[in-house]
Amino acid sequence: MKAFIVGASGLVGSHCMSVFKDHNWEVLGSHLSFATEHTVPFNFLEDDLEKLFATHSFYPDVIIHCAALTNVDYCENNVDESYEKTVLPTEKIVDYCRLKNVGLAFISTDYVFDGTSGPYREDAKVNPLNVYGKHKLECERLVSTLDTNLVLRVTNVYGEEARSKNFIARLISDLQNNVSKELNLPFDQFATPIYAGDIAKMTLMLIEDNKKGIYHLAGNDYYNRYQLAAKVGSYFSHNKLHLTPVKTSQSNQAAVRPLNGGLLNIKFLGEYPKFTFENVDSFIFKVTKHEL
Ligand SMILES: NC(=O)c1ccc[n+]([C@@H]2O[C@H](COP(=O)([O-])OP(=O)(O)OC[C@H]3O[C@@H](n4cnc5c(N)ncnc54)[C@H](OP(=O)(O)O)[C@@H]3O)[C@@H](O)[C@H]2O)c1
Repeated sequence: MKAFIVGASGLVGSHCMSVFKDHNWEVLGSHLSFATEHTVPFNFLEDDLEKLFATHSFYPDVIIHCAALTNVDYCENNVDESYEKTVLPTEKIVDYCRLKNVGLAFISTDYVFDGTSGPYREDAKVNPLNVYGKHKLECERLVSTLDTNLVLRVTNVYGEEARSKNFIARLISDLQNNVSKELNLPFDQFATPIYAGDIAKMTLMLIEDNKKGIYHLAGNDYYNRYQLAAKVGSYFSHNKLHLTPVKTSQSNQAAVRPLNGGLLNIKFLGEYPKFTFENVDSFIFKVTKHEL
């Protein structure tokens, strides 16, 4: 089987690349600005999927769409650009998949919910509070018009990545390098962090089993941002991390955040009861095991 991964230079996409390859899939992955030895350039604003596949003589059975404008506050301040870089490319990918009868897995977010009663099940009522969430919901609706579709909602993704962009990996790296850090972090924004490698494994299992529709991919952790950073800091005895818990309303973020967010993995675990999740502790332990 063949998969094309849009955004394979990113956190989720790079883990999908390696997991699918490890399971003997033929994989083509794309980057925009961060070229890797495993990816080909593809800008969904300018490039054409049919041409890309013809160039590489690669005709996928499934596309895993992991690319979007992911800076939530930037999206809030740049509504048209967010639409152009999130909704329009997804529409093009959906059109291609419909035309060529290709399956599509789309990575979405818990920001489709308003955070009044999370963590959420798949059938909970959506009500996005910000532009990013609204545009991801528009994408979900487009994707769900395909016969073979998966909408995979995730939140607070962490994991090893070349650029260490994600919150947990960056914090660990700073603490390993004894960097002094002062962070004001909201104590009232809760979510369910998930390891990018687990997202990749779950995505593979769902695709191989021909599953369809919405799945919430979440680990078993449930933390607010402040707790999450404090947990990471607790593994480094002489750290220079200074954390101040703040209310979200004090943090001057452009986009309104869902407070009691996060996702429940009950549906996934009902179908795959033996799946074991990485958690924040096991991840920190894994990446620091030579030092602690
Ligand atoms: N990370 C989270 O906590 C989180 C939470 C909820 C939902 N999500 C969703 O999960 C998905 C993956 O997120 P992520 O954290 O893996 O993001 P990421 O690390 O920022 O990766 C985004 C990917 O998209 C590519 N990209 C950006 N603009 C593009 C364009 N114009 N044309 C083609 N490719 C483009 C990037 O390429 P370059 O890097 O090479 O420029 C990169 O490969 C996104 O849809 C995001 O909304 C993530």
